Amino acid sequence: MKIQPANSLNGTIRLPGDKSISHRAAILSAMATGDARIENFATSADCASTLDCLQNLGVEIKKENTTIFVKGVGKDGFSMPEKELDCGNSGTTMRLLAGVLAGQNFDSILTGDESLSKRPMRRIIEPLMQMDAKIESENGCAPLRIHGISQLRSISYNLPVASAQVKSCILLAGLNAEGKSKVQSPKSKVQSPTSRNHTELMLRYLGAEIEENFIEAENGFIEEISVEGTSRLIAKNLIVPSDISSAAFFIVAASCLKNSEIVLENIGLNPTRTAIIEVLQNLGAEIEIINLQEISNETVGDLLVRGGESFVPGVFSNIIGGEIIGNLIDEIPILAVFGTQIENGLEIRNAEELRVKESDRIKAVVENLRRMNADVEEFADGFRVGKSKLKGATVDSFGDHRIAMAFAVAALFADGETEIVGAECADVSFPEFFQTLFKVMN
Ligand code: S3P
Repeated sequence: MKIQPANSLNGTIRLPGDKSISHRAAILSAMATGDARIENFATSADCASTLDCLQNLGVEIKKENTTIFVKGVGKDGFSMPEKELDCGNSGTTMRLLAGVLAGQNFDSILTGDESLSKRPMRRIIEPLMQMDAKIESENGCAPLRIHGISQLRSISYNLPVASAQVKSCILLAGLNAEGKSKVQSPKSKVQSPTSRNHTELMLRYLGAEIEENFIEAENGFIEEISVEGTSRLIAKNLIVPSDISSAAFFIVAASCLKNSEIVLENIGLNPTRTAIIEVLQNLGAEIEIINLQEISNETVGDLLVRGGESFVPGVFSNIIGGEIIGNLIDEIPILAVFGTQIENGLEIRNAEELRVKESDRIKAVVENLRRMNADVEEFADGFRVGKSKLKGATVDSFGDHRIAMAFAVAALFADGETEIVGAECADVSFPEFFQTLFKVMN
């Protein structure tokens, strides 16, 4: 994909459904009793992997454009798959389904593509084994052979990393466990979740007995989520908000290009996902939130973004680290690009988790920024980027959707043309990305 520099972004756009919420909507509706209509379901290849796996587990799913219809089978009503369940590139599919499959009375195998087969799965294998499931892996990586049992043992588990996928895996397994299963997140200075909480919100919406408590700890709080194994889920129709992680590319592009004005409609604004807006606003971006409302237990609103030169050097700290990272994790590649456009640049710390995403995102960001002539330094847990005059170059997606899209935005600010090798992987979360960008850029 070749991208030319742009002057501004203008227009009103509606982005596809949130990937995280869509995975959960499909999986939880399948585990419920009754039928569900899910509107604005993500168009991402990752969510198609989830639907495909569920169909191979005996769930009837129909699709009409971006609306899907799921016939719930009940939380222990899946049937043994006739073949391996292919999760493609999707860590969320693999980790959430592992939790579901641990509590089914049959064996199953979860596989993934080359990137997913290298990602760490011990973080879910360990708690699931403590719950009595038996799981074989290749040195802690996929393929995962899951020997499920119909009644798991409940556990109380301290998450070693702030991961919504691991937390969700245990909560979903907990629906087929005896008694109450508990998950404690890493300590936080404030009483709020350290990773996205869509699973908890949707479980509650569908009628599960789920509780959130904050336990006081030295200099902070530990969030504890518990779910009752006797919980039953009742299907409800759901509307998925548009994906804030996809919106982030347009927010940064419009903020940095003078004379831009875009409206992003119907964006999911769950507080565990909006750290990107706060960080960009603190650094001087002009983002206004309008039409806030509550839909299917999630906060939704429109974003009005204006371009300009209101970046505020030195007023706010340009070092981003600590517990905010968990709620910003997917937006760090595009934040790095933003860093090249602001006074004093940007430093990201405590983000070692980026090394085990769809690519090593620290390495990918640093390498591509260097190729575009940015002033950048790599750390084990992040990087620092200075304000830079970017030059068009050939960059690599490293097979990672968020890297491809972040550098398409960087290309808008560069001198000359930029070529992104392997840009088609944007399909993993946002197949319409380039088409949408070309529609609004001038
Ligand atoms: C996700 C959780 C995050 C995020 C991923 C989606 C989810 O991963 O990076 O894109 O839907 O639960 P971790 O749980 O590994 O932090």
